[in-house]
Amino acid sequence: MSTPAESANPMEALVSLAKRRGFIYPSSEIYGGLNGFFDYGPLGVELKRNIRDCWWRDLVHRRDDIVGVETSIIMHPKVWEASGHVAGFTDPLVDCKVSKQRYRADQLFWAPVRVLGKISDSVILNLLTAKRISESQAQILRASDGSQPEIVGYISALESEKTDDDLQAGGEGYKRKFAIQGKLFPLSRTALQKMVDQGQDSFPGLTGKNAFTVDMPKDFTEARPDEIPLIPSPATGEPGSLTEPRAFNMMFETHVGPMRDSASVAYLRPETAQGMFVDFKNVVDTSRVKLPFGIAQIGKSFRNEITPRNFIFRSREFEQMEMEYFIHPDADWLKCHEEWLAWCRDWLKSIGLPESHLSLHEHPKEKLAFYSRRTVDIMFKYPFGVQELWGIAARSDYDLQQHQKFSGAPQVWFDEGTKQKVVPHVIEPAVGVDRILLAVLAAGYAEEDVKDEKGNVEKRTVLRLSPRLAPVKVAVLPLLKNKEILTSRAKALHAKLKRRYAVFYDDGGAIGRRYRRQDEIGTPWCVTIDFDTIEKPGDTFTLRERDSMTQKRITEAELFALLEEQVY
Ligand code: GAP
Repeated sequence: MSTPAESANPMEALVSLAKRRGFIYPSSEIYGGLNGFFDYGPLGVELKRNIRDCWWRDLVHRRDDIVGVETSIIMHPKVWEASGHVAGFTDPLVDCKVSKQRYRADQLFWAPVRVLGKISDSVILNLLTAKRISESQAQILRASDGSQPEIVGYISALESEKTDDDLQAGGEGYKRKFAIQGKLFPLSRTALQKMVDQGQDSFPGLTGKNAFTVDMPKDFTEARPDEIPLIPSPATGEPGSLTEPRAFNMMFETHVGPMRDSASVAYLRPETAQGMFVDFKNVVDTSRVKLPFGIAQIGKSFRNEITPRNFIFRSREFEQMEMEYFIHPDADWLKCHEEWLAWCRDWLKSIGLPESHLSLHEHPKEKLAFYSRRTVDIMFKYPFGVQELWGIAARSDYDLQQHQKFSGAPQVWFDEGTKQKVVPHVIEPAVGVDRILLAVLAAGYAEEDVKDEKGNVEKRTVLRLSPRLAPVKVAVLPLLKNKEILTSRAKALHAKLKRRYAVFYDDGGAIGRRYRRQDEIGTPWCVTIDFDTIEKPGDTFTLRERDSMTQKRITEAELFALLEEQVY
């Protein structure tokens, strides 16, 4: 019986396995690596290819309404003007002038430190001298009788799973540092909730729902100009060094041709989607598609992310699988959006992601891109928190209208029914291959205590990958390396399997060790050729299953039938 043992630091364990077993390496590692870029090794490239192939087969080959394209990475620069990327594909960037660190303003959180109780003149003077409060705040503190919580400074923390805890701990530390007497007002909703739950709501007005009307942590884009100089830099802990947020365009620029001037500027595409919009008319004119229909593409995209992080989750070069589903302007777009949402969720389950790790995030109306009618993200519970995996957007006819306007070429579909030309609307499911790969590794990784043949407890690391995705489908193991009668049968089976599947031949070491090596890379099945294979009738092998570790005898025909059923 095996018991899953939680790894102390699951991300560290994953990154280490990925490197050790040849899934993912840092890019240009011998030169110290390059932040936000990664290489896929022999097993990683197989896993990634299997993700792409499953998506392509399920979406393009197995449906009648979707076709594929592969468009160029560098496109006419006008494409990005029309799409709005030149003007608006920006993230808010904040610099720390002292540490030279850069932050995304919407990932830098801050909160005012409020205290209930009279603040002494000497503490107020200290806070002023340390530039923690403004002169007008000092005046408020001097005039206060201490019966209402007042601001005595600010703290900041970077976005993470424990931002709330970091801010609360920071506030407590701040109070100690400046020897501030009085009761600390909670700095986060979590801390406030805890206080209300414990019935410690002894602040004026801090009861029930009222409590939550006060300012809670905000991100740096919400800081007022008079608050910015008082918010400490996460790098130094001191205020005064953070700049106002400024828009930073994330597109990588390059030059086409020998001249490096403004006329030769071009961009590495930040999404694959525009390729489908720009080729819309070509596809309509050259294939027999009818509304509703989709155009799918898999390919690299590039974004000069301010803060690439969490391994391959947010990188600067990554791969997208996007599909633009064109519908009639009068079609029920909401129903279509729901259908694609369900399709994407089901597909993630079909490649082995557990339902328990998936959730939905509806973008609030006020935060939608101006052209979007609705966007819902499928979220995944990564080891570092619940994060976006797949965005499903209803993009209206914005993109085709823009390209029509900028290029002058009509982007229309001829409606046979009404004999009218219409500009179709679009539902767009857009997902990153690398994010799926990370989700698959995170969900599949386990460290377990298992018993060996002699009953001794040992550790096994196992990657529970779906047979659809596993880089190696079957490992063929002759029981003994030096028995030609066993190895020749094993080699014959290996050669036959190899014609259709990625398989592996391993004759090195004890059989238990060989099983462990395959468990760690996610191989669903091992077949062992033993003396019974040769000596007993039926030509059967031992089939050992990765997850249950059970073994049974199986014939070659049964093995192929199993693969046919599970690897699709
Ligand atoms: N065409 C729409 C579009 O590109 P997006 O939400 O910016 O939308 C779609 O990107 C998906 O691409 C995301 O849900 C994510 O899976 C993946 N993605 C985006 N930026 C990424 C990055 N820096 N690194 C890895 N994957 C990324």
